[in-house]
Amino acid sequence: MFEFELLKKDGNARLGKIYTAHGEIETPVFMPVGTQGTVKAVTKEQLLSTKPQIILGNTYHLYLRPGIEVLEYFGGLHRFMNWGKPILTDSGGFQVFSLSREKKKEGKHKAEVILTEEGVKFKSHLDGSWHFFTPELVIHIQEIIGSDIMMPLDVCPPYPVSHTTAKDAVDKTIRWLERSKKAKKNEWQALFGIIQGSVYSDLRRESAIKTVDLDMDGYSIGGLSVGEPAELMYEMTEIVIPFIPEDKPRYLMGVGTPENIIESVERGVDMFDCVMPTRNARNGTLFTTYGRLNIKAAKHRFSDEPVDSECDCYTCKNFSRGYVRHLFNAEEITGMILATIHNLRFYTRLMEEIRKSIKESKFLEFKKEFLDKYTGLK
Ligand code: GUN
Ligand code: ZN
Repeated sequence: MFEFELLKKDGNARLGKIYTAHGEIETPVFMPVGTQGTVKAVTKEQLLSTKPQIILGNTYHLYLRPGIEVLEYFGGLHRFMNWGKPILTDSGGFQVFSLSREKKKEGKHKAEVILTEEGVKFKSHLDGSWHFFTPELVIHIQEIIGSDIMMPLDVCPPYPVSHTTAKDAVDKTIRWLERSKKAKKNEWQALFGIIQGSVYSDLRRESAIKTVDLDMDGYSIGGLSVGEPAELMYEMTEIVIPFIPEDKPRYLMGVGTPENIIESVERGVDMFDCVMPTRNARNGTLFTTYGRLNIKAAKHRFSDEPVDSECDCYTCKNFSRGYVRHLFNAEEITGMILATIHNLRFYTRLMEEIRKSIKESKFLEFKKEFLDKYTGLK
């Protein structure tokens, strides 16, 4: 049911196809984030208009709310949200740690995560109740969710972190992956391995080798885009990629900006997810061919131009910058909807252009052309 086909290479950039029970995915692909069973601010039809191939859901959030009983009752997430295309779910490994760190930063609670060999005990960000995730439970939850691609429970340390703590995270993540693999029942759902190791080359190599030894359906590069300089993220990606077999998909978790995506495709990454297009849209930051723009700025007040004249999205085809700016300043919900539609289409169009350039063996030309415009004028 799950397969990956490598169609073409242009340097290290790859064109491929993933086959899942809910359809095919052309890679390199960007996966919009739909944490709570919806991509924020858009209906299914609005989302589909941006031409996504797969969306991402979060085990952590869906387990806490609506809860696995509800998801089981409705026959899984696809049916619950009436989504027929593939779904990838993150395991909660990242969310358990990052949400607890956020609470600590806000000074509302002390960090409330207890990591043991058995699993991770954490306090719900919703009501403060205690829960315990084990690798086995997290697989069980994702089997109820019915995601096409599952992530195993992992340990994602913050940045910066000591070599000792990073080594511990690598070792635990590997042992948990062995347990996850044993716990998995459904043949049709894919299970990836997550490579950790922070910014330590030796740990990244060790994690890549041991994860690949377990012969997973695909490989995620985790623990990056957590505040380290972009150069270090690229360096870590370059270190692990040669250890991953060519016939398996590579997923760089939580990345990133258009620049990050292009640089990582160049190094051989096939899959990406990030809240950037959706979150930025909701605060009025729009991606365009000529860089990011703040739609709330006064300079757009009398602009009859579309957000991006090269974009074919519903927003750009129908409305002016001046109108979208007005909606934001009047705090009308429609502003966020129109901005989300545009940003998501900007990302899927970027990936379409990347795939086309690889197909035509023109990836580096595309990269230069795109970045010249995107980083040039503003
Ligand atoms: N999302 C971004 N980074 C990570 C990671 O390291 N692990 C998991 N599970 N999800 C992520
Ligand atoms: Zn647009």
